[in-house]
Amino acid sequence: MIAIRGATTIESDCGGQIKERVKELLCEIKAKNGLSDGDFVCIVFTSTADIRSYYPAKAAREAGFAFCPLFSALEPDIESALKLCIRVLVFAECKAPAKHIYLHAAAALRKDISQRINIALDGPAGSGKSTVAKILGKKLNILCLDTGAMYRACALKCIKENVSVFDEPAVAALMDGIALEVKYVEGEQRTYLDGQDVSAEIRKPEVSMLASSVSALGCVREKMVALQRQIASKTSCILDGRDIGTNVLPDAQFKFYLTALPEVRAERRAKENLQKGYDIPYGQILKEIIERDERDKNRKIAPLTVAPDATVIDSSYMTVEEVVAFIENKMQEKI
Ligand code: DC
Repeated sequence: MIAIRGATTIESDCGGQIKERVKELLCEIKAKNGLSDGDFVCIVFTSTADIRSYYPAKAAREAGFAFCPLFSALEPDIESALKLCIRVLVFAECKAPAKHIYLHAAAALRKDISQRINIALDGPAGSGKSTVAKILGKKLNILCLDTGAMYRACALKCIKENVSVFDEPAVAALMDGIALEVKYVEGEQRTYLDGQDVSAEIRKPEVSMLASSVSALGCVREKMVALQRQIASKTSCILDGRDIGTNVLPDAQFKFYLTALPEVRAERRAKENLQKGYDIPYGQILKEIIERDERDKNRKIAPLTVAPDATVIDSSYMTVEEVVAFIENKMQEKI
């Protein structure tokens, strides 16, 4: 039998959120430890004294975990304790070592045992971030989030609604009502805009330039960064983007900045475009890459820049496999 620890936090003492977070925590413990219902021996919860509105054990029963004994107790009111926190101890029949799960603000509690890792992978367009991130995500069995796809979806929203990306108040109004979701289908990230899968549409070359402009707006970044942090707070992940190590996850354990000469990046993009059926002259791609670099590096909010604690990798003369191996080695050195 093993004892699996876990914890999560809520933002306010409300029954609805307690039910949602307890379910999320138990489902994550079950999935990450490969448990089936019959493996559970019992589940014990404690909650901080500021949680009064609902029993975590009741929330667990309602979430379908009634197949084993459930128990909850209140912790003493300790001043320095993390507020609004629910802790759990799951006893289960399992041969593998326990994988402990700490979610939301509780992620900061037990970094030593929670085995959660965050990797920030930043860099300019065409540096190979997305390809490398996907391979690493699969190898390490962690979630991979391409944050550029989210800014691309915002740009697509502007196109669809006929709103200029330079009209910030109009874009802000669009952001208020945007339904942007990132889902994983057979391990692949899919981006949904207003309920529709737009994963292919957001890769169109015309979306690329607008994505760079729209991503410079505070109203867009605020919303996307909150969403990215929310996704990253739940699980081990690798995020690729422009401001992950500097802004989205400044505490990420591993930070890499992947770059390459503009000419090499333009060549890579030209090849990718051809594969997708877009025949765009190399000269135009190079010009656009340089323009995007300029805009991404010089914007006021969260510009593309190397985090002081990031490892810079120039991939101009490296294969994808070499970049992946380099990152893996660096991570090993640090662990
Ligand atoms: O990586 P990409 O080409 O899909 O990104 C599209 C645009 O989104 C890019 O020009 C800059 C912007 N972006 C950003 O500002 N911050 C991120 N974390 C990711 C992308």
